[in-house]
Amino acid sequence: MSDLFSKFDALIQQREALLQTGLTDPFNLVMEKVESPTVAICNGKRTILLGTYNYMGMTFDPDVVAAGKKALDDFGSGTTGSRVLNGTYVGHKAVEQALKDFYAMDHAMVFSTGYQANLGLISTIASKDDYIILDIDSHASIYDGCAMGNAQIVPFRHNDIEALEKRLKRVPEGAGKLVVLEGVYSMLGDVAPLKEMIAVSKENGAMVLVDEAHSMGFIGEHGRGVAEAQGVIDDVDFIIGTFSKSVGTVGGFCVSNHPKFEILRLVCRPYVFTASLPPSVVATAATSIRKLMDSADKRAHLWENSKRLHAGLRQLGFTLGTDEPQSAIIAVIMPDLEKGAVMWEALLNEGLYVNLARPPATPAGMTLLRCSLCALHTDDQVGEILGMFAAAGRATGCIS
Ligand SMILES: Cc1ncc(COP(=O)(O)O)c(C=O)c1O
Repeated sequence: MSDLFSKFDALIQQREALLQTGLTDPFNLVMEKVESPTVAICNGKRTILLGTYNYMGMTFDPDVVAAGKKALDDFGSGTTGSRVLNGTYVGHKAVEQALKDFYAMDHAMVFSTGYQANLGLISTIASKDDYIILDIDSHASIYDGCAMGNAQIVPFRHNDIEALEKRLKRVPEGAGKLVVLEGVYSMLGDVAPLKEMIAVSKENGAMVLVDEAHSMGFIGEHGRGVAEAQGVIDDVDFIIGTFSKSVGTVGGFCVSNHPKFEILRLVCRPYVFTASLPPSVVATAATSIRKLMDSADKRAHLWENSKRLHAGLRQLGFTLGTDEPQSAIIAVIMPDLEKGAVMWEALLNEGLYVNLARPPATPAGMTLLRCSLCALHTDDQVGEILGMFAAAGRATGCIS
């Protein structure tokens, strides 16, 4: 019998070698208590959270929490059913209405996760004989959606407008074309040139899907994302988003003005063949989304935090993923996984949690310490964070 697990041997060995050095496992952290969107207790110690994507700090918002508790009392703990059978409650309709209002769009469809939203949309609208032209650094859920639909997949160099155009021009005449882009790329925190890319896509007869998972709530005047900030939201055919970042709970969605959009509810397998979100989750999401419409002050403070952390880390001598802060994600580039894990642990010992990211999730084989800021990080906390990076960086030899 061949062992189907033998394909994981190299990874198992790399992991064992790392843990044998006595390092804390960076992929097995337990939060013993979460006190707020910015502070948790880990290993018995107060820890500032700088790697949660909780951009707008909605997880402890009193209105959001109250809405969840009320829905739990009124509707129970779960729907136990698909949206097309017994799994649509008034709360599911209400959160879809909140999304339509938030984006000022005609249609909104809620999935159980953002992963499933990408899986569902992409695999359903682009199938065999269609072409998906996508940025090579796209999220795993985008690649998985492509694989599930059996379309022809044509990746192009990250954020390269000319490369996109070249690929589009090579698609056979008459074939269906879907261009898939992200507003903010989550590994380095860089923003896509959506304005130019969408123009090129439209000139070449493609539909455009933009995943705004890391920009919703924060980027753009109304928090609608990078497409809004760059003035091209009306040219996007499908926006994908998640409730697991700025919204502060779990779930995914697609919004669109396409006149035939509603048919997807019957043909999109990751929507039909899974249970819908619990009533408490859709109630928290709807309340959070409506509050995000009116959060300009928080957006402004989050930009301040991002700019200050970026400038401070650069000044300390760290190499960052972008020259300027482009989003609420700041990626610190580590020389290799071993050094990255040592620095990650040193930060944790200082009382700071960041994400350790490694290939294959990262581009170009990089190891990253990914920091994601929150609108509720105070000025004092950002100062503390910089102090912790200075101490851990010097102790580990990452900076001098
Ligand atoms: C760009 C992007 N799209 C989609 C997702 C999936 O979101 P969810 O956590 O709701 O499954 C993520 C999550 O990390 C993401 O970064």
